[in-house]
Amino acid sequence: MSSTGRGYERHADDYYVTPHWLIHEFLDEFKKDGLWDFDSCVDILDPSAGGCEKYPMSYPTVLNNRGFNVESWDLREDSRAERKGINFLQLNTGLELNQYDMIITNPPFKLSQQFVYQALNMVRSGGLVIFLQRLNWLGSAKRKTMWQTLPLASVYVHSKRPGFDPEKPNKTDSIEYAHFVFCKGYPANAELLVI
Ligand SMILES: C[S@@+](CC[C@H](N)C(=O)[O-])C[C@H]1O[C@@H](n2cnc3c(N)ncnc32)[C@H](O)[C@@H]1O
Repeated sequence: MSSTGRGYERHADDYYVTPHWLIHEFLDEFKKDGLWDFDSCVDILDPSAGGCEKYPMSYPTVLNNRGFNVESWDLREDSRAERKGINFLQLNTGLELNQYDMIITNPPFKLSQQFVYQALNMVRSGGLVIFLQRLNWLGSAKRKTMWQTLPLASVYVHSKRPGFDPEKPNKTDSIEYAHFVFCKGYPANAELLVI
């Protein structure tokens, strides 16, 4: 397959590479806030970890460098995840699987709503789900019920726009992004009012 062909396939699976600086920026601020006991997170999962022949998985790499051990899964067989060919949305969830302290990723955009529900089913009570998403994820009438019911605890808005193509480091996205932090058991509507 040509590199153009591979690029298209990746795009089809919503594969983009999160720049490491963006993850560091979030983690620095998250830690500084001291609102969450981040350092005690041991069971960490990235369910759409990405990576490919050319690029490492962004979140596991950054977190590994900071001393955390991260389990990595991805749908694509050409990802660098420990478990490939895993469709996160097709996994059964049950009490015995609700063990994660934190699930963190940049999920496929078109599946982000389903991903957040699935991830919340897989963290322990008080566990964190952290997703990178476009800032306008907060909008849209079709997501109103979701925002009125999800345990959103904080939104870290990145004022500097990221780019997701490592081949074009100077090309940034046309929209701002944020790390959305959900905490299982946190009251819905506590930090955000969607009307
Ligand atoms: C936007 S990319 C982000 C990749 C990586 N998390 C990062 O931040 O660089 C989304 C990733 O989700 C994977 N993916 C798409 N659908 C999936 C699914 N149903 N289950 C698991 N992974 C999926 C894609 O293969 C791709 O690697």
